[in-house]
Amino acid sequence: MPRCSMQEAMNKASVYIDRRIEDGSKIAITLPHASHILIMAVSAYLIARQIKKQTKDETIDLEKAFVCGLLHDIGRYIVDERESKYPHTIAGYDRCKKLKIPGVAPVCLTHAILDKATHEEYPDYTPEQLKFVNDKMSKINRSFYDDLTMLVDLHCRGDQVFHIHDRLEKNIKMYNIQMDNYYDKYMALYNKFTSKYNVDIYRICRFVADHRKSIFKHLMPYCHGWLRYVCGDKSVAKDHVAYSRNANIAQYWKDYLAQQTKVITK
Ligand SMILES: [Fe+2]
Repeated sequence: MPRCSMQEAMNKASVYIDRRIEDGSKIAITLPHASHILIMAVSAYLIARQIKKQTKDETIDLEKAFVCGLLHDIGRYIVDERESKYPHTIAGYDRCKKLKIPGVAPVCLTHAILDKATHEEYPDYTPEQLKFVNDKMSKINRSFYDDLTMLVDLHCRGDQVFHIHDRLEKNIKMYNIQMDNYYDKYMALYNKFTSKYNVDIYRICRFVADHRKSIFKHLMPYCHGWLRYVCGDKSVAKDHVAYSRNANIAQYWKDYLAQQTKVITK
């Protein structure tokens, strides 16, 4: 599977978000969403790291967890769902294929679709879109990264973190979901995952969201204008200039996350 490093993923996400900011488009949506994908990426990385440590499963790829978290919603920067009625899941899948990061493409679908897309759960999808999604979904074997990204996404919205119970209740009201087993379906996935890996997803996402300003500062060389807005901190812009684009940010970033994990697991 072709790999996409954390650095490449940061660059790709950064380009899309910068473009949206430069276009002056939908700042109220773009900025909380920029914050959302960073919180997602860091939370998924830390959760995967904790699971890897506990299970001693060397096949768990922390970079992949990060990249999936960061790029799962990339379709939202290509289409405005509310205007185009074109699902961000399909736009993201197509774009990842085009960008030659097909390893992430399935996550653009699977973070929002658990098994089969039905009209009751996705009333905005046209019959053709439901068919496209279901054709792809039938060929995907859900992986650890699909479940991880979906569960972290259910906890995170904008700068906010909800417990999954509250988020599911909120979704039912907000999207007027008429599907009887909606709540149970996602809780079953959550219970299976958390009991298998003995991990507290809410606690880690909460920690990341609470520390987002300091975490974002450490990602500065790869996030340009948008971090200034997200952080709402003028000194961040100065720090940005001070960093070298060629700095060994990957190592620095890994060391930083290692410290954060120690704090979390204390
Ligand atoms: Fe998301």
